Amino acid sequence: MSDTQLRLGVNIDHVATIRNARGGAYPDPIRAAKLAEEAGADGITAHLREDRRHILDADIDGLMEALTVPLNFEMAATDEMQKIALRHKPHAVCIVPEKREERTTEGGLEVAREENKLAHFIAPLRDVGCRVSIFIAADQRQIDAAHRIGAEVIELHTGAYCDFHAEGKLDAAARELEALRKMSAYAHSLGLEVHAGHGLTYDTVQPVAAFPEVRELNIGHFLIGEAIFRGLTPAVHEMRRLMDEARG
Ligand code: PXP
Repeated sequence: MSDTQLRLGVNIDHVATIRNARGGAYPDPIRAAKLAEEAGADGITAHLREDRRHILDADIDGLMEALTVPLNFEMAATDEMQKIALRHKPHAVCIVPEKREERTTEGGLEVAREENKLAHFIAPLRDVGCRVSIFIAADQRQIDAAHRIGAEVIELHTGAYCDFHAEGKLDAAARELEALRKMSAYAHSLGLEVHAGHGLTYDTVQPVAAFPEVRELNIGHFLIGEAIFRGLTPAVHEMRRLMDEARG
């Protein structure tokens, strides 16, 4: 893969959401991850939430064993999660904010206020070779702080852009997009690798994919939903096609 090609990370959390609705073993998120891999995903993303509402500890064991593409392990900055990450040493660890009552990761991490704590938290993860990514809003203050604590990667939260787009508030969506564009370039100028994700769909992916500084998009909920109608392989193929078209 060239340096400018955009990677697609497929998030398989919501295959586990459906499985957990009934308990039991199906649909199996590991099977979905393998299928996404065969369909051209460059990585698999899984979020082990503190309440284990979708991905379970055994899924992380299974993914580490089964995948040939890198695993991007999303987690909150807690001691429990740090121990799990240090045991598995996934390719990448993405630190996300987590509140029990939220339905999904609603905002970016507050790095600037927690700088010292986070710097100590990520140091052992970096020492064992994990690429540490910090999930943040398109906010220069947070990017500067992520840079200072020694993160190699930032992932910009695209949720607000996608929400405004879905609500038909196109001016607000355009403002969010402009902030994402500016902050991608700014983070890149500091030497950070830039990723983006949350809420992306076929309708919203292309403007973000077109930012030359963005190296990876992590996309889950929409793709798993789309897989119900057209199957996971065609769903991933179409996302890949749109990303490549926007990039080209
Ligand atoms: N990136 C991060 C850091 C996330 O927390 C999530 C959601 O788990 C995603 C990307 C994917 O978001 P979505 O499932 O809305 O595509």
